[in-house]
Amino acid sequence: MEKLKPLFNLDDLKAPVLSGNGLTGKDILSVGQFDKYTLDYIFTRAKEMQNMVEKVGGVDLLKGKVLACMFYEPSTRTSSSFIAAMERLGGSVIPITQGVQFSSVSKGETLADSIKVLEQYADVIVLRHPEIGSAQVAADSASVPVLNAGDGPGEHPTQALLDLFTIKEELGSLDGLTVSMVGDLRYGRTVHSLTKLLLKYNVKLRFVSPEILRLPLTVMNQVIDAGVDVRETHDVSDVIGNTDVLYVTRVQKERFTDLQQYEEVKDFYVITPEIMEKAKEKMVVMHPLPRVGEIDPAIDSDPRAAYFRQARNGMYIRMALLAGVLGRA
Ligand code: CP
Repeated sequence: MEKLKPLFNLDDLKAPVLSGNGLTGKDILSVGQFDKYTLDYIFTRAKEMQNMVEKVGGVDLLKGKVLACMFYEPSTRTSSSFIAAMERLGGSVIPITQGVQFSSVSKGETLADSIKVLEQYADVIVLRHPEIGSAQVAADSASVPVLNAGDGPGEHPTQALLDLFTIKEELGSLDGLTVSMVGDLRYGRTVHSLTKLLLKYNVKLRFVSPEILRLPLTVMNQVIDAGVDVRETHDVSDVIGNTDVLYVTRVQKERFTDLQQYEEVKDFYVITPEIMEKAKEKMVVMHPLPRVGEIDPAIDSDPRAAYFRQARNGMYIRMALLAGVLGRA
């Protein structure tokens, strides 16, 4: 593999080194776009971003560039980490994060028209939208890069990248691990995206959910086709002792049409200190957040609880992606 030139000379941050890359001008819509080489490239750049932020807080790599941050569904982490990423790289943000009722969509404007207008002002667009395929619709309308920040129960590719980066940072490798996903595997788009990325590595996958929240067949068929060692169960205690990454998810109330069904499964799993006693000494608990009860806050102080470090890694990954698609990495 070609050795990357460093993005920044950490001893002389006033003059960051720039070099070419394969992300320039690209949309980021699905994890299917990434091969292992590109993943390694992004993780190397994200690590450089981390080192730079820890040393000087920010640089002017994207000075003069503008990000339109369009969130048609609620978000804390994805929206604010994209905004922080742009600002730490010296760029500016148009924040459309107050909900669709405050944009002209409430007057009947189509997504395609909103995108065509925003690209008049911005160099890159980040979109979260409740409908599967909306990011593709936006990308088809836009001449600037579009980054999918979650399209309904479809995909959340930048989250999957930060999840994978976190596993690598925490455990040192992406191979030889047993990854157990727990909770809402049906609607949890982060689970779908992360599972697809993990198929590129030598992993064992364990899926833990109530019957009605099992992983969709479309994703499970990809797992089976990849020949990965996979098992499904309803019981966390079946997997906890052999797990390296416990990836816990929230039951997504907003995706249920039958709220009675939601009530029946919402408290199905709670990761407690008692469960953690059965876990390996070297493993991590991750969660894309927000959590609504599925991880007992009593384990926040456990060094294996990686979910807040995971959220921070989102900023570094998004810095690397923004610099990449804007041709500055
Ligand atoms: N993980 C995640 O997507 O969080 P937000 O919904 O807060 O963006």
